[in-house]
Amino acid sequence: MSQKNQTLGEFIIEHQSSFKYSSGELSRLINSIRLAAKVVNYEVNKAGLVDILGAAGDTNIQGESQQKLDVYANEKFIQMLTNRNIVCGIASEEEDDFIAINSNDKNHQNKYVVLIDPLDGSSNIDVNVSVGTIFSVYRRVTEVGTPVTLDDFLQKGSEQVAAGYIIYGTSTMLVYTTGDGVNGFTLNPAIGTFYLSHPKMQFPKVGTIYSVNEGNYIHFPQGIKDYIKYCQMEEGDRPYTSRYIGSLVSDFHRNMIKGGIYLYPKSSKTSAGKLRLLYECNPMAFLAEEANGKASDGAQRILDIQPSELHQRVPFICGSTNMVNDAEAFIKAAQ
Ligand code: AHG
Ligand code: MN
Ligand code: MN
Repeated sequence: MSQKNQTLGEFIIEHQSSFKYSSGELSRLINSIRLAAKVVNYEVNKAGLVDILGAAGDTNIQGESQQKLDVYANEKFIQMLTNRNIVCGIASEEEDDFIAINSNDKNHQNKYVVLIDPLDGSSNIDVNVSVGTIFSVYRRVTEVGTPVTLDDFLQKGSEQVAAGYIIYGTSTMLVYTTGDGVNGFTLNPAIGTFYLSHPKMQFPKVGTIYSVNEGNYIHFPQGIKDYIKYCQMEEGDRPYTSRYIGSLVSDFHRNMIKGGIYLYPKSSKTSAGKLRLLYECNPMAFLAEEANGKASDGAQRILDIQPSELHQRVPFICGSTNMVNDAEAFIKAAQ
């Protein structure tokens, strides 16, 4: 029985039985993400107030300097997921290798692995612009009770059992799917409760926004250049509007609500683009498809890519289906 003012907690319980494995574990997992989201939200919200900004001094595996909140969010999500005894492994954009949980306990029954981008769009923190957290959940492929292996993490995106993001924006929202549509919950900060505010989210059929870092234009492949020019052409519902926040979560969220396309193509400087398949592209692709959208690397479905390494990058084109189809057609035509 769905109801008005439904909380995330109530929603999780109500939908537990519709999940194909329905053991309650996935519900507990989403619950621990919900809790970590609130803790990180509290910290992100006061980022401007305390001396927490600036690089923490470390660099992550991609050679990028880490902001302190990246480190904080990474620790909190790992801590909350580890404490609850639900997951057997975690991989994070901020960690060089995956973390095995309870690997010495033969009796542990934990079946799920979680992959996270703990703080997405982190360069936006210093300027008070929305950031996010992205998560992706799989069932392990190796035997329960044994230590997790890399194979448990290197699964195709089509094997995801849940994925979602938290957007720390003008409101804080948790948006997720377990393969039965996409639902969005908004945090009431006064009482620390998420409420179902955006049930059954769908990309509008016709989108008119394109989101790409056009500063890289001269480095883009010809097909992408052609598509961008097409977006800017005066014809029918074009020119489209250009909107680029530089935080995938925020750009995706806006495009899903208003209708649009996000592109992070390969370029003459980055042969595989910038975004990470496992922490960013797969979860967003799962959400996009569950919301009637599409995600592609320009030639094939993101969710069909067999990953070969944890921190793998891929070109990413995602959004309203008709727009992604158009972009793919331009890429093909230029080959
Ligand atoms: P992260 O902060 O996790 O490293 O991710 C940043 C990503 C993504 O969120 C964003 O869309 C993209 O990088 C922006 O890259 P550019 O600054 O190169 O446009
Ligand atoms: Mn990111
Ligand atoms: Mn990040």
